[in-house]
Amino acid sequence: MYTIPSHIHKEDAEFIDNQKRYTQILERHREIMHGVMKGGPDHAIEKHRARGKLLARERIDLLLDPGTPFLELSTLAANGQYRDSFPAAGIVTGIGVIHGKEAVIIANDATVKGGTYVKETIRKHIRAQEIAMQNNLPCVYMVDSGGVFLPEQAEVFPDRDDFGRIFFNQARLSAQGCPQIALVMGSCTAGGAYIPAMSDETIIVKNQGTIFIGGPPLVKAATGEIVTPEELGGAEVHTTKSGVADHFAENDQHAISICRSIFETLQPRTKQMLEVISPEEPKYDPAELTGILQSDQKKQTDPYEIIARLTDGSRFHEFKSRYATTLVTGFARIMGYPVGIIANNGVLFAESSLKGTHFIQLCNFRKIPILFLQNITGFMVGKVYENAGLARDGSKLVHAVANASVPKITIITGGSYGAGNYAMAGRAFDPHFLFMWPGARISVMGGQQAAMVLAQVKIDQMEAKGQKADPAEIEAMKESILKKYETEGSPYYSSSRLWDDGIIEPMQTRQVVAMAIAVSLNKPYGEPTSGVYRM
Ligand code: COA
Repeated sequence: MYTIPSHIHKEDAEFIDNQKRYTQILERHREIMHGVMKGGPDHAIEKHRARGKLLARERIDLLLDPGTPFLELSTLAANGQYRDSFPAAGIVTGIGVIHGKEAVIIANDATVKGGTYVKETIRKHIRAQEIAMQNNLPCVYMVDSGGVFLPEQAEVFPDRDDFGRIFFNQARLSAQGCPQIALVMGSCTAGGAYIPAMSDETIIVKNQGTIFIGGPPLVKAATGEIVTPEELGGAEVHTTKSGVADHFAENDQHAISICRSIFETLQPRTKQMLEVISPEEPKYDPAELTGILQSDQKKQTDPYEIIARLTDGSRFHEFKSRYATTLVTGFARIMGYPVGIIANNGVLFAESSLKGTHFIQLCNFRKIPILFLQNITGFMVGKVYENAGLARDGSKLVHAVANASVPKITIITGGSYGAGNYAMAGRAFDPHFLFMWPGARISVMGGQQAAMVLAQVKIDQMEAKGQKADPAEIEAMKESILKKYETEGSPYYSSSRLWDDGIIEPMQTRQVVAMAIAVSLNKPYGEPTSGVYRM
């Protein structure tokens, strides 16, 4: 491997301009994250604490092995929606280490509308379970929720990936051998009662935890019976009479210590073997990325400068460095873990697809996880390219990405547009994890291009009718499309809707990628289905 030579000059006007802009983006990002991580409104936090309960993130801190990191997912889910009354969509999810074992943790935040579920809460919960499934991880549910957010029932109740999917996933995960552990630390009503009921082992907290299919008001309305929550489904009832819960805890801290004790009894996972060496810092400072990432989307950011700030020692073993240079491929290490990197360096051509396909096969055989660094406007268009079979060659890359037998981790560093998003392991291609950088953009095409396409369609329509398009009308149409794409192409719009696993700062990327690879080792990688063939 060679050390990538960096060509940037920190005193260049372009570097300084980029840095200024990205610093502003990061400041705004940190502000948003800080606001969201506070949880619900002050009065709800006070009420929660007055009951002797810990906040969701405090519960997670106490559950994890001291000094180990927590990879929080989709912190900005529901951000900018519901008048911002659902910070983090009212649920904290992520991956942490309990007694040396990696686990998915799903914790309701009861300070956010009683921990109730809107569409994004469900998507976030289900996404965390999918990660557990894909990586063979145990799940811990810290339940404190009023169930479905009733005004939104049509959005959360009936469909395949709605509330019911949570319990379906629990059954499938348990059958797959992923232990399901529930800590009932508050309300657990209606369908929500199935979370502890479907778990392998359940802990319930005295005077706080309740589990019932129908709460006291519903019981009264249905049968006229008057009953208190404790009598209906409190900790005493469920650990002595019904057997719905297995362990009685005095308080949150006690419940967490019981959960940690359960983890001591879990079987260790059979791990994928990977040659991991001591981590090394990159030769070039990752903080310089802020000056390297182009503020003008029309200018190409040099992927070698990015790779040099992500890999150990800034080293890279490039594959086919002289061929199809708009796609950069090669091997490196990140925090000691081996990775195969596929990074965009301009539009994709037929030969870039072939190069990418060949490289993915190498990764499959060498059992090396693939890191996609997306900054892609799409495939090269035009008669010459289409006539030469661009779609035929592009489809080979799409096949290879879809069928890769090693984990894929995707980071959207810049633009993510059109078919380029697919070929570079966008969300539809099931990467193990997908994160965005705060300055990234994602949409079917750029706003400018979309506005031009739609204007041309309109002009053609009018001409076919023998009419002339009104230029002012066309301009107004373009304006409104541009505005729409500006909003919808933002990483915050994406993250709010769970199209990614979160927005991370460029400087956090090494740690996040290393954690993602460490997590993926809990499930042995698959076998390739064919030999390595040259395209
Ligand atoms: N749907 C919509 N909003 C709900 C809700 C639900 N299922 N449950 C609670 N909320 C809202 C409350 O209206 C309140 O909103 P506000 O802050 O805008 O006033 C907020 O969540 C907090 O509720 P509150 O009752 O003040 O908090 P609490 O901590 O004392 O109690 C619950 C929380 C969840 C135990 C209690 O609200 C409850 O029992 N809710 C009904 C649960 C239910 O029957 N669910 C059935 C779902 S299928």
